[in-house]
Amino acid sequence: MDYLDLLPTARHEDIARVLAEKERWLAQPKKGFLRYRELRETVRHIRAAWHDFSGDVVRIGAPEELAAKEKAQVQQVLRGCMPWRKGPFNVFGFDIDAEWRSERKWNRLLPEMPDLAGKLLADIGCNNGYYMFRMAHHQPRLALGFEPYVQHYSTFRILNSFAGLENLRNELLGIEHLHLFPDCFDVVFLLGIIYHRHSPLDALRDVLTALKPGGTLLLESQAIPGNQPMALFPEATYAKVPGTWFIPTAACLENWLKRTGFREIKMFCQHPMSSAEQRRTEWMIFESYEDFIDKDDAALTIEGYPAPWRVFFKARKR
Ligand SMILES: C[S@@+](CC[C@H](N)C(=O)[O-])C[C@H]1O[C@@H](n2cnc3c(N)ncnc32)[C@H](O)[C@@H]1O
Repeated sequence: MDYLDLLPTARHEDIARVLAEKERWLAQPKKGFLRYRELRETVRHIRAAWHDFSGDVVRIGAPEELAAKEKAQVQQVLRGCMPWRKGPFNVFGFDIDAEWRSERKWNRLLPEMPDLAGKLLADIGCNNGYYMFRMAHHQPRLALGFEPYVQHYSTFRILNSFAGLENLRNELLGIEHLHLFPDCFDVVFLLGIIYHRHSPLDALRDVLTALKPGGTLLLESQAIPGNQPMALFPEATYAKVPGTWFIPTAACLENWLKRTGFREIKMFCQHPMSSAEQRRTEWMIFESYEDFIDKDDAALTIEGYPAPWRVFFKARKR
């Protein structure tokens, strides 16, 4: 069965058309695409006999499963997927210390996580699928990752070609495609996305559309400190990131959720960001958090804006 048949949407033909278009785009003989296709081909024959998604480190394959030649291929492919933004992973014994300590975000979500067993999940902006593997531990019927960037999309495809999980899928889709999935998902994860949307209210409306009645949104966002319901709109960049539009206070984000029609809204965690959570590593060798923050005042970004906090919300569709 095609996994899309699990989703109760009448828009199957439209989805199929978008996916076919994405396939054609991906099949272009351009360096940026060929590179990832080659990486995927190199290790297509390798399947892990073992995995463990129960702990902070996503573990796929044990080192003794591979002969020396395959081990070298896996190492070369993992290095080829750099920079690794989300993790940690251990793949056939190779420890991947990613830029983000993503297990910390997952552990903050866990106390408020609805039962995922047998459920239809969407992870919007799923990156390399770190959280989807953590979801897999809870036995969902399907977790569908939306990820329009080829590097992240391909990295997940490679990891899951090792792990072989049928109930985890990703597609080269973005949040802007959620309207094709009305009333489809029991739980939508919207982590680290909303401040990258120039219309955060439209983004939340699209999420609301895609949730089943009674479904749950788990939302995590960058935020500025303060009690007033306000959002910062940076001149060009925020913490050196150009595609950042509105950075709300927690109160502002709560109002966005209320006024787009969410119910039972609950903020359950907030914390300041730090370089303990996002930092340069051997697997991500570029600038990271400490380069984005004022060297003399850790309460300010390099642009002089309030330094980021992270806030977590849970909300439901009526
Ligand atoms: C800041 S990262 C957050 C990743 C992950 N959700 C997390 O919380 O760690 C933003 C992710 O959204 C992806 N992205 C970019 N454009 C997107 C879009 N239009 N719709 C959904 N995701 C998008 C990026 O490629 C990236 O993987």
